[in-house]
Amino acid sequence: MTITAIKGMNDILPGEIETWQYLEATARRVFGRFGFSEIRTPVVEKTDLFCRSIGETTDIVEKEMYTFEDKGKNRITLRPEGTASVMRSYIQNKLYNNDPVNKLYYLGPMFRYERPQKGRYRQFHQIGAEVVGVDSPLIDAQVMAMLDTFFREAGIDGVSLEINSLGCKECRPGYRDTLIAFLEARLDVLCEDCRRRYKTNPLRTIDCKVPGCREATADAPKILDHLCRGCDDHFSRTQSLLQGLEVPFTVNARMVRGLDYYTRTTFEMVTDRLGSQNAVAAGGRYDGLVEELGGPASPGIGFAMGLERLVLMRGDDKVAPSRLPLFIAAMGEAATDKAFTLATDLQRNGIEAEIDYFGKSLKAQMRRANKLEARFVLILGEDELASGEAELKDMDQSAQEKVRFEKLTELLKEKTA
Ligand code: HAM
Repeated sequence: MTITAIKGMNDILPGEIETWQYLEATARRVFGRFGFSEIRTPVVEKTDLFCRSIGETTDIVEKEMYTFEDKGKNRITLRPEGTASVMRSYIQNKLYNNDPVNKLYYLGPMFRYERPQKGRYRQFHQIGAEVVGVDSPLIDAQVMAMLDTFFREAGIDGVSLEINSLGCKECRPGYRDTLIAFLEARLDVLCEDCRRRYKTNPLRTIDCKVPGCREATADAPKILDHLCRGCDDHFSRTQSLLQGLEVPFTVNARMVRGLDYYTRTTFEMVTDRLGSQNAVAAGGRYDGLVEELGGPASPGIGFAMGLERLVLMRGDDKVAPSRLPLFIAAMGEAATDKAFTLATDLQRNGIEAEIDYFGKSLKAQMRRANKLEARFVLILGEDELASGEAELKDMDQSAQEKVRFEKLTELLKEKTA
């Protein structure tokens, strides 16, 4: 029996990878311009880190984590998201000593044991960004403007920005109590999950996809009507800054997010093109998280985009692999040796080149050159070896010109510049 990949974990193959690399390069470029530096943290962390940050009663911690005991009997978890690890690193490496503002971005695989479907996988990839140290709404607006810029520069449309505020430790408890009282009167129509955790995590019921719960919570009290003065001001200012930057958005008072660390501003970049997986990017403020994890009180805000979903959003608009500049076809052993030397020289000097490794006929070699969409083909036989020059065929313009071997690199650099 052949061994296949684990369900929900995918290979990203040549032909697909170019779109991934393009999106990654776009993110690096845009995020760099906004002052973000890359951070890389381990793919596994102590399980406690995620329990304490994401929250014990979230779907992620309750059901979706890949948690193992290693050979030293430590409980470790494949990271389900990036924020917790970045904050752990921020605290451990005392990044707050470098500058009062830390702008960090990351990209890499995340793991959640979810039911795989289009746009939802068990190993997926995020590009995320976090700003630690600033509580001003200036940063909320700037982070969302950066996200908006990314989508523009990545050529992805069909998305819209939704924002909400989840309040803070001053005003959320009061809202929670109001919501719990509201839910208590409707327990019989809530799904089992919601009934079980309506007291520990009542906000999740508002986001529950089960039709009965949606109906029951349609007129649930809204967090936005319960914000304290500080949160209300923060949210109003964030909106007016976004308007000033002409970043389009709508307020969605039902957005609650599936992770517990959020405070104040939350946001999602949503689409209706990916079926039930409607969030292409999501994030928010987490002003208490660093302290919760044992660090100095430092406000934070960030987001993560799902790379698979970004790729799906581009649909058939795939980024084409870069074209092969040169194929060297050779007839006979001596010519093959020369083709090998020339190609390797080119590769060492910055130009991709391919040759035949099987002693195939010239016709077969030309077929392969065509299939690889080579821009130029150089044909070598005994005569060419003797004269030290060969015909360089321009495959696009069916033209050709003689080139001396020692001039090949220079000429190709010129022609493919
Ligand atoms: P999240 O909403 O759990 O937030 O995930 C962010 C994004 O990751 C989603 O919008 C989606 O595009 C992608 N994603 C999540 N789960 C999957 C999956 N199973 N398959 C494919 N894509 C998926 C967070 O992870 C937060 N750490 C975001 C954040 C950063 N908040 C503040 N800073």
